[in-house]
Amino acid sequence: MANMNRDGFGSRFGVLVAVAGSAVGLGNLWRFPYLVGNNGGAAFIIIYLLFVILLCLPIMFSEFIIGRRTQANVFGAINKLAPKSPFIIIGIISVAASISIMSFYSVVGGWTLEYIFKSFSPQFLTADSANLANQFSGFSSASFMPVVMHLLFLGLSALIVVAGIKNGIEKYSKILMPALFVLVLLLAVRSITLDGAGAGIRFLFYPDFSKITGETLLAALGQAFFSLSLGMGCIITYGSYVNRKENLFKISLMTAAADTGFAILAGLAVMPAVFAFGIPPGQGPSLVFITLPQIFAQLPFGNLFSVAFFFILFIAAITSAISLLEVIVAYFTEELKLTRKAAVIIAFTIIGTFGTLSSLSNGVLKDVTIFGKTFFDLFDYASSNIFLPVGGLLVVLFVGWRMKRADVLDELSSGGAVAVKSFVFRWVMLIIKFVAPIAITIVLLNSIGLIKLF
Ligand code: PHE
Repeated sequence: MANMNRDGFGSRFGVLVAVAGSAVGLGNLWRFPYLVGNNGGAAFIIIYLLFVILLCLPIMFSEFIIGRRTQANVFGAINKLAPKSPFIIIGIISVAASISIMSFYSVVGGWTLEYIFKSFSPQFLTADSANLANQFSGFSSASFMPVVMHLLFLGLSALIVVAGIKNGIEKYSKILMPALFVLVLLLAVRSITLDGAGAGIRFLFYPDFSKITGETLLAALGQAFFSLSLGMGCIITYGSYVNRKENLFKISLMTAAADTGFAILAGLAVMPAVFAFGIPPGQGPSLVFITLPQIFAQLPFGNLFSVAFFFILFIAAITSAISLLEVIVAYFTEELKLTRKAAVIIAFTIIGTFGTLSSLSNGVLKDVTIFGKTFFDLFDYASSNIFLPVGGLLVVLFVGWRMKRADVLDELSSGGAVAVKSFVFRWVMLIIKFVAPIAITIVLLNSIGLIKLF
């Protein structure tokens, strides 16, 4: 039932860089280092790794299975496998989550662009953290520039997506991902060779388990979901462009390894420098926009490092943004029969508008709140605390309980071409049917406050 006219990835390398491009993003380079800083370092990393291996990998297989089996967008995929079933809600959540994530992600993407430009200016870098904090809040609360930058970031993402899978997403990921790797590696080398970097390295690799609380566990699980792009149809959509012969196990393993590798590299680029300059590691979200420039100011060629760093953030963000856009665009083109161009224009208009509200909510609209949250916080909160866990839960329930076991095995083994050991398959099914749904339910109930862990 393969559709010969459907666009798709042209090579295994293309699949890998595109999926890794989706996974590696602001989640790794901006969120992971500050979560590690806030949650006591190495112990958090170990728990994060356990969640990735035990829970997230099987969820990733599940999403790839749904996508590749059906070669369709999220709505089409669920409709093909289970016509008229309530599981179609997975499609609704996916599109809603893509819009919601993009509505704040694209604003932060705009900040990275602004900071690339700022980094060229000699006045920008200063060792005075109050000055840097003022620069950041002054910029992000303004009404004009951040909106322009958000629209510029969104527009660049739209240009890549409009070109399609092979000639857009795959082509640009092939260039951007290796560049990203080299740049992060260089920055990590610079950071770990600073005098006094040892304390930062110890912080990353010597666990202090007394720091672990229920909150830490939840932060680690939420982060693993967000970072691996799970629970909102991204991997289903990209999976639908994967060739029938590819080994889904291998792709998932390599994606998880690349994503985690980037997170650790980001930790190595940030923490040793933070410690070497005696800055407290638990600075929260401002770590990257305020603390790092403070460090760059004290390095020779600081402006160069600053430009490189914000360029890295920008690349990581845009290769994730295109995967979020593709979820919406695939739905519009295949279900609503729009042309790709029209689909991208409509997605741009919707996200452009919500993103503008979310950007302005850091300034003039800061008093407009819904459920006590500004637009920016609401989009962020709704995505990671509601859409992703609910979406992930429904996906594992769907693959575990609704799809035929034989079909799942057929997909995992790529129609018999790949040998899947029976104990591996049983382990995967056990997690998909029981462990993952229970674990996600606990996280979900906890995050909306219905139960309190520990
Ligand atoms: N994984 C991306 C990151 O770490 C964010 C993302 C989430 C992308 C969900 C797609 C889907 O930044």
